[in-house]
Amino acid sequence: MKNQELKDEISKLKKEMNAVILVHNYQRPEIYDIADYIGDSYDLSVQASKTNADIIVFCGVRFMAETAYILNSEKKVLLPAKESGCPMADTVTAQDLIDLRKQYPDAAIVSYMNTTAEVKAESDVICTSSNAIKIVNSLPHKRVVFVPDRNLAIYVAEHTAKEVIPWNGFCYVHDKLSHEELAKVKQVMGNAKVIAHPECRKEFRDLADHVCSTSGMVTYAKRSESQEFIIGTESGMLEMLKRELPDKKFYPVPSGGTCAGMKRNTIEKVLQALTSEAPVVTVPGDIRVKAKKALDRMIQVTK
Ligand code: 13P
Ligand code: SF4
Repeated sequence: MKNQELKDEISKLKKEMNAVILVHNYQRPEIYDIADYIGDSYDLSVQASKTNADIIVFCGVRFMAETAYILNSEKKVLLPAKESGCPMADTVTAQDLIDLRKQYPDAAIVSYMNTTAEVKAESDVICTSSNAIKIVNSLPHKRVVFVPDRNLAIYVAEHTAKEVIPWNGFCYVHDKLSHEELAKVKQVMGNAKVIAHPECRKEFRDLADHVCSTSGMVTYAKRSESQEFIIGTESGMLEMLKRELPDKKFYPVPSGGTCAGMKRNTIEKVLQALTSEAPVVTVPGDIRVKAKKALDRMIQVTK
């Protein structure tokens, strides 16, 4: 089938089945075309929690689909590419959190959204790149253990009086963005504003004009008077920015890359998922209930 035929078939099935398609900003442009909502991991979790649809098709990575299920477990959640994972999420386990709690009994455990359901279940609260500082500052504790992204932990530590104890995880896409290359690109493009994701290293982030979540990048670029931007995040974000702001210019940093997990979803797989109502993502009940508490706390503080 051609792309347009695939998209038409997906739209038809979506209506018949009362399905909603949630799409992360890093997805392929042809997936944007079939989306009901496109956003960052916080936006999409809120959409998942309040949808009236019977089926949620999640075009993102597994932890995002798991979160949708945890927040709204009466729905059937489909992840078109069942193998689409986030390697950073797998760098910390539930047992690691149990051990950390023993090691730091007075600290709150704050887990990034990019974690498994089991890890969320052992956490006090969850955060995303858009609300991490607010979440940490909302806690009564003097110190927090922050898992798994060390770069985001360092960023948060710069914006709080609390002691932040980082886990040594990182995103392989953001961590390799080179500040030396960014400095060179900045020199050539003197007027361009730099927008960086907080998963980037500090050296890179320090050269940025603005640090924010993926959806925050769209908002910043829309509001900015600048016409040119250098983007420090996964390559798919450039497609989203160009789509939202076709008259502005967006440039990558040469060391930038693509998230393999995010790109595993295709429109063929979305159609297949709707047709077969699979692969289904679920979370065992006891883990779901504990993880939901930590996620609900995040939403409560962020609102
Ligand atoms: P956002 O919540 O900013 O979309 O980030 C998710 C992510 O996985 C970034 O790599
Ligand atoms: Fe995980 Fe990085 Fe991919 Fe985001 S870009 S899903 S943090 S591997």
